[in-house]
Amino acid sequence: MNACVFVLCFFLITVCCSANDRDAKLRFYFDSFNNFTEFSISEAHKIFQTSWHKPDRNTVILAHGFTGIPTGPAVTGIIETYLDQEESNVVLLNWEYLASAQMASLASSYVNWAAPNARQLGVYLVDTFISLAEAGLNLNKTHLIGHSLGAHIWGIMGNNLLLRGIELPWITGLDPAAAGFERRNPAEKLNPRSAVFVDVIHTDPNKYGMRTSSGTVDFWPNFKLIGPVKQPGCPNKPVPVFSSDDLCSHNRSWQLYIDAVKQPGTLIGSHAKNYRTWKNYSVVDRNAVTLPLGKCDNNSRPGNYYLVTKAEAPYGLGIDGL
Ligand SMILES: *[C@@H]1O[C@H](CO)[C@@H](O)[C@H](O)[C@H]1NC(C)=O
Ligand SMILES: *[C@@H]1O[C@H](CO)[C@@H](O)[C@H](O)[C@H]1NC(C)=O
Ligand SMILES: *[C@@H]1O[C@H](CO)[C@@H](O)[C@H](O)[C@H]1NC(C)=O
Ligand SMILES: *[C@@H]1O[C@H](CO)[C@@H](O)[C@H](O)[C@H]1NC(C)=O
Ligand SMILES: *[C@@H]1O[C@H](CO)[C@@H](O)[C@H](O)[C@H]1NC(C)=O
Repeated sequence: MNACVFVLCFFLITVCCSANDRDAKLRFYFDSFNNFTEFSISEAHKIFQTSWHKPDRNTVILAHGFTGIPTGPAVTGIIETYLDQEESNVVLLNWEYLASAQMASLASSYVNWAAPNARQLGVYLVDTFISLAEAGLNLNKTHLIGHSLGAHIWGIMGNNLLLRGIELPWITGLDPAAAGFERRNPAEKLNPRSAVFVDVIHTDPNKYGMRTSSGTVDFWPNFKLIGPVKQPGCPNKPVPVFSSDDLCSHNRSWQLYIDAVKQPGTLIGSHAKNYRTWKNYSVVDRNAVTLPLGKCDNNSRPGNYYLVTKAEAPYGLGIDGL
């Protein structure tokens, strides 16, 4: 009897409290958005006991942001884009519960729940990815994409993998979150050394997104010098905090990214030391050093890239946006 109680207690403790990662999962998609299998991050390597992985393909893994859900617009848009291409093994880091609004207000949910969870997850995922690599995942053919807090999850994981002697090839940050990260030291956020190539699209600097360069290359669509950037097409009137309209510029990063993947070369940035320099460029200057969004180019010129876009999809203006 006592033994049973003991075993039961042990079982409950193990189930309830085994890890703070208990709800973070990797969702592995088969050929369509609704056909997938999920493993907790501590068991994710088991996917290699199935026929899911196609070794001739690259693997793309997306991490959503604060209040993100697997059926939300960012996840749906990006995952379906890659599934449609049929060129990648497609995965979602589903950390819905850990990213959710658990507290009385959205602000305190972000500060006291989602952001600390993102930091921890970045560290926990190191073991996950080492196990995945041992099971058969070629990290050199793996591309990690993160929106907002998700960008820092991959950045922190990359920083910690580096300490274990593993360098990731490619992290894409879609408007990496500013609050709780911008002023931390580089080890605790996405930074240019988190992977061999880090590309960042900043669509909401000075507000939800970072205003400091944080990649090998940083794209600044529709940038302006003072105050938050209002992306074209986003409402120019006061809107409630965290409302869909309020997130319009922050969301634009993944919307631009989808276009960059679907229509390569339609979104191109022009390299410049800073915005003032770019504004002062002649046409020849603007075309001197360019880089398309959404492309891993280890030989690209590091630094800042500027461009303008249209107000709605398809956003790209090609060389007219330089
Ligand atoms: C899901 O994908 C698997 C593997 O490709 C396939 O065998 C299965 O039939 C698919 N299920 C549905 C409902 O499409
Ligand atoms: C960039 O470099 C990394 C690490 O050396 C390599 O794995 C990756 O394939 C390279 N990517 C391209 C597009 O050359
Ligand atoms: C990945 O690339 C690095 C550097 O380019 C290389 O040292 C390492 O052996 C590669 N790993 C695999 C599994 O190919
Ligand atoms: C922005 O993203 C959030 C979260 O994914 C979503 O709820 C909202 O509807 C989006 N807003 C726009 C304008 O796309
Ligand atoms: C602006 O461009 C002109 C002509 O190319 C150059 O002389 C000047 O130094 C530039 N100013 C800045 C701030 O880059």
